[in-house]
Amino acid sequence: MTTVLDQLVEDHHHLRTLLRYLREQISHYDDPSVETDLPCVMEALDYLHGYPQVYHHPLEDAAFDDLEERAIGDAAVIEKIRSQHHELEQETAAVRQLFEAIYNDQVVPVSRLKETFNRYLDMQFRHLQTEDEEIFPVMAEAFSASDWERIAAKVDPADDPLFRPGSIETYRELSASLGLG
Ligand SMILES: [Fe+2]
Ligand SMILES: [Fe+2]
Repeated sequence: MTTVLDQLVEDHHHLRTLLRYLREQISHYDDPSVETDLPCVMEALDYLHGYPQVYHHPLEDAAFDDLEERAIGDAAVIEKIRSQHHELEQETAAVRQLFEAIYNDQVVPVSRLKETFNRYLDMQFRHLQTEDEEIFPVMAEAFSASDWERIAAKVDPADDPLFRPGSIETYRELSASLGLG
């Protein structure tokens, strides 16, 4: 049976796949011999602006509420991760805006693009690593299957629009580039 924690772990795997894809795309942005697939980059940023903040973060936050109510885990770590959710959401919006400007043929210096983007990727990867190492093991030990059901019931359900089987209609270009479907 797939538990909610399995879903969170799988989401992290998917997020890393997408972040690595973006890193690869942006790494050759200033190399005229390799074309950056801007439509796919935009789709990836659109996904990052959607599913994680519509479902993945709220689900984690609901689990953190439970840990805090039961005084389980390191409260400082939980608070740090919670505030990272807000920071990530703000940074995702900012990076998306930057690429929208590029997409609309506005001039954005390559150095600014790379600096902003690399900082964003670092932030994302560090967040995933902190959760994997410092909080998922605590949740795995603290929560039973029925705890997870109760936690999940606090959040509006949402399907992953990119990595869920059969969901290629939403992000057609990106699905193809990632070899999904
Ligand atoms: Fe998170
Ligand atoms: Fe997460």
